[in-house]
Amino acid sequence: MAISAQVAIGIIGVGGMGGRHARNIHRHVVGAEVAAVSDVDLERVEQIASECGAQVFADPFELIDAAEIDAVLIASPDPTHAELTLACLSQKKPVLCEKPLAVSAVEAARVVDSELALGRKLVSVGFMRRFDPQHLAVRRAIGSGQLGRPFLFKGVHRNAEVAPNATTEMVVTNSAVHDIDSARWLMSQEVEEIFVKGVKIDPATPGEALDGVVLHLGLTGDCLASLEVSVSVGYGYEVSAEVVSSRGAAVTAQPAAAVLRSRAVRSLEVAEDWLVRFQEAYLAELNAWVSSLTGASFDGASAWDGYLSLLIADAGMASLASGQPEPVVTPPRPELYT
Ligand SMILES: NC(=O)c1ccc[n+]([C@@H]2O[C@H](COP(=O)([O-])OP(=O)(O)OC[C@H]3O[C@@H](n4cnc5c(N)ncnc54)[C@H](O)[C@@H]3O)[C@@H](O)[C@H]2O)c1
Repeated sequence: MAISAQVAIGIIGVGGMGGRHARNIHRHVVGAEVAAVSDVDLERVEQIASECGAQVFADPFELIDAAEIDAVLIASPDPTHAELTLACLSQKKPVLCEKPLAVSAVEAARVVDSELALGRKLVSVGFMRRFDPQHLAVRRAIGSGQLGRPFLFKGVHRNAEVAPNATTEMVVTNSAVHDIDSARWLMSQEVEEIFVKGVKIDPATPGEALDGVVLHLGLTGDCLASLEVSVSVGYGYEVSAEVVSSRGAAVTAQPAAAVLRSRAVRSLEVAEDWLVRFQEAYLAELNAWVSSLTGASFDGASAWDGYLSLLIADAGMASLASGQPEPVVTPPRPELYT
């Protein structure tokens, strides 16, 4: 591909997240175009295709194989991720796969093994908090050393409501993986142990998913993490990440929003959902990924990070079942990911 050419991106799954990525690339990312889209929802895919001037592929594997497609973005449901990512690797095409990389560590390990066999990093995982200005400010503060030795990560992740078909496994492998990745990334430590407890706020509500889980992690370097993931708090969507250190602490600030004063109350708006809260991060992630396709380095999550987040999530599910802390044994990091 010539450096001056537009990178031709194919997007698989153009629902909430994939639709946002498509519009972000089409409207805001220089150097890339949405060249093709694929989705089982024909009305939705035609709509995005006409907005972006993209070709529609009925079969996502044909999109991956198409000679005119340089790179692929996967935003279809979680159970499709590993197989589609493996297909991209078999075509030696760069792929940004939405989180989670797979639905289990065993599946994610197949992606890592395939990438190792190629000997090239082609897979990126959509842990977009790594591009969020507030998260990056916390990371910079820790890195500066002025706060002393970090020893505790505290994560809060709240959704207004849970989908009726959600399961507890999805709360852990789909939602909590974000917070697990934040803990590893901001603390620069690996997880050694996990203990998870959960509650269903109202047992009379339909669906089996727990509404709130708390994950306690033991980290290398004598560090700890405590993650709250609440999926039906009703009031909106919130994420915060705090690192507590020996001489201070750093916590993500609220993104720019007006402080409102009304009816004797001073208040700060809460985002409705992740598409509002993390728009800046999604854009920065896409820009960084597109730049990496023409040679720049990429600071986002790798297949290895995607795999480890699922190894930890799987141990978390085991802890929920056993009612006990469960060990997490992190394999040695392959040289490709150092
Ligand atoms: N990084 C983030 O902040 C973030 C936020 C939301 C969702 N996600 C991830 O993005 C993915 C999609 O989530 P969403 O909220 O957009 O869901 P969604 O249901 O809104 O969209 C999924 C789309 O995939 C399509 N689809 C289903 N099966 C398909 C298949 N086999 N091939 C092609 N398309 C298929 C659906 O028709 C739908 O349009 C999930 O894996 C989710 O974890 C990430």
